[in-house]
Formats: sequence, structure tokens, C-alpha cells
Amino acid sequence: MPEIATAPFTLARRTARMNPSVIRELLKVTERPGIISMAGGLPSADTFPVEAMREATARVLRDAPREALQYAASEGYGPLREWVAQYLAAHQGMSVSSSQVLITNGSQQGLDLVGKVLIDAGSRVLVETPTYLGAVQAFTPYEGALEGLASDGEGPRPDAFAGAARGARFAYVLPNFQNPRGHVYSEARRAALADIARGEGLPLVEDNPYGDLWYDTPPPRGLASRWPEGVLYLGSFSKVLAPGLRLGYAVAPPALYPKLLQAKQAADLHTAIFNQRIVHEVLKSGMLDDHIEAIRTRYRAHRDAMADALDRHMTGLATWQRPVGGMFFWLELAGGVDATALLPKAVEAGVAYVPGAPFYAEGPRADTLRLSFVTVSPETIDAGVAALARVIRESGMPRR
Ligand SMILES: Cc1ncc(COP(=O)(O)O)c(C=O)c1O
Repeated sequence: MPEIATAPFTLARRTARMNPSVIRELLKVTERPGIISMAGGLPSADTFPVEAMREATARVLRDAPREALQYAASEGYGPLREWVAQYLAAHQGMSVSSSQVLITNGSQQGLDLVGKVLIDAGSRVLVETPTYLGAVQAFTPYEGALEGLASDGEGPRPDAFAGAARGARFAYVLPNFQNPRGHVYSEARRAALADIARGEGLPLVEDNPYGDLWYDTPPPRGLASRWPEGVLYLGSFSKVLAPGLRLGYAVAPPALYPKLLQAKQAADLHTAIFNQRIVHEVLKSGMLDDHIEAIRTRYRAHRDAMADALDRHMTGLATWQRPVGGMFFWLELAGGVDATALLPKAVEAGVAYVPGAPFYAEGPRADTLRLSFVTVSPETIDAGVAALARVIRESGMPRR
């Protein structure tokens, strides 16, 4: 690493492993007006429950203004922790006590706390191939050795998982509609991975921000319900309410909880109690199930529009799986086209995507890219995919 001139400050060794998020940098270019951007990882702002938030905010300021503006418990707001425990019991088949719930600043903070508590220099950490870029960013500064597990359209392959399990600190898994690949683990795959993990004593970190966003049938139950004492579960309100709230949660086995809590205390004392109270106020009205159903209906139409557009324009130029949930299509370009090199041409042609390479902990594949289908209208999706197909074809790809 070249020395960075920060004198009189000397940077800690770990900063050499910190990098700007490639995606956040890219988004600055791709979000210019007039560009059809399928690059963002954002939920659609049209789904935010603005009126419910407005009313809940007024109620919090009327009924508990001083409590809502005061310092609060590091664990999180008690009634919200209780709500999370009950929600997970009802929707994930998890039997957890609210005392295991730690409210975090989004699940992204949960990932950082996991790194802080579980990773030493050189610790082996198993991740999917590809995996969520934000997790790589969170884990890397703790100087662990990230290893990409051979994965297929159903998640990590059991043989690869079993082969790598011994001696690893944990495996980071995304069973539902992974970011970036959009795939879902089958029931058989979940059962196999949970069995191997338990047998090898390999802890799992299960990240599930997209689990409620299924469009055809609900996914099989998660890994945390299969091995509660070996799985640390991360959830988020970002994709089902609004990401600007920065509200998520970690559910930890009781023995691990105190260390996560201490890590959280050092990081920020607690998550904004004002936001927690407002969100609890919204949730206790019971609106979430209907709200999620409305998001599903909306996103399903977008997913279908992108599937049709890809069939129409991209056949022969790339391969993909139709996602049954989440927000993304993952494309593998035919003929080894480099998606990073192609991006400036795509932006010139008025369309943007995220190249796939940054999502790999090891052995990046340049011929991959991620398309979000939730923030662009179904009509515009067709125009965007058509423009992208033209750019790929003009790059010297074989014609269909
Ligand atoms: C897989 C995954 N995990 C975690 C996060 C972080 O979400 P948040 O911190 O908003 O809860 C994201 C955000 O896009 C994600 O895709």
C-alpha cells in the first residue's frame, strides 16, 4: 500500500484495508439526471409509509417527548425489542426472547459489530461467492481472511461448505434473495448447511433484509430457527419501512449478547430512541403485514417487467435466473464481456448498472453485473434493458 500523507497523524494499520465503496462511488456518476439507473440498491421511495410516519411522529412528540429526546438503553427500546421477538416467532419460526434482541443502526451496524466481536487478525471467515459488498467492507478492517465459498444458484455448495468449515470463525450467509445474486436457498440446501454447521461447530451469521420480499411463494424457514444457539441473525426495517430510519436488529445467542452490546455501547451508546419509538408506534398499529403485501405487489410487477425485458432484449447476450424475491437480477455476460469496462459506455448511452466484480471476496468475475428492478418504472425498465443490450452488442458481442 502506498503511504498516505496524513502527517502529523499516523494511520492505524487496519485503514490500509478500508476502501471507498465502489458502488457508492459509481452511483455518483450513474445518478445524473436522464440516466435510467438500475444501479441503485435502494428500495422504491414510493413505498415509504409517509402518512403513518407523520402521524406516529406527532403521537410520540405529544405523548413522550422528553423520553423520546433523552439518552436511552443501549439494547434498544423495550417494546420494539418485544415486537421484533414476536415478529420473528410468527414469520421466521424463531423462538427468541426479547432479551436476545439488540436494536442497531441498520443491519450494516450489526455486520460491523459482528466483525468487532468475532474476527481477529487472520481469522478465517467464509462468505458466499458473490456476497454482499457491505459485509466485505465491514469485516475486512478487522483483518480477517475472507474466503469465498463455491456457490451455485441455491447458495453455498454443501461440499465446499463442509470442506472449509473446520477452524473458520463463522460463515456469513444470505439465504433469502441475496444481494447481489437474488437467489434463494432451497429447503434441502438449508437443511444440509445447518447440519454441517452444527456438526462442525461452525457459527453462522444469517443476514435477512429481504426475506419478506417474496413474490411467488414464501421462502423456507431460515437457518436461525434450525440451530438457534449457533446462529447470529440480522434483520432490518430498511426494505420494509424506510432505510433513512437506520433501524435494524441483531438477535444473538444469550452467551454472545453481552459482547455485542459492549461493542455497540462503544460505537454509539444506542440507536436513536426517537426513531425507535416512532417505528414502534407505526408497527403497533399492525400495518406492517398489509404494507409488505403492497410492496410485494408493486415489486412483483417490476420483477415481471424486467424478466420480460431481459427475455426480449438480452437472450444470447447474457444468462440469468428469474429471482423469486428481493430487488435484483444478476447477469452473467456471454463471451466474457467486462462489465466494469463497459459501464462508461452504458452511462453514455443513458443506462446504468452495478458491475459484479466488487461483490467477490476472492476471484472476482468481471463478466457479471447487477440490475435493480425496484426503482425504475416497468415501462422504463424495458427501455433501460434495451439500451443496455445495444451497448453490449456494440461492444463486439456475438449477435443473436
Ligand atoms: C444483504 C444486505 N445486508 C445488509 C444491508 C444493510 O442494510 P441496512 O443497514 O439498511 O439495514 C443491505 C443493504 O442493502 C444488504 O443488501
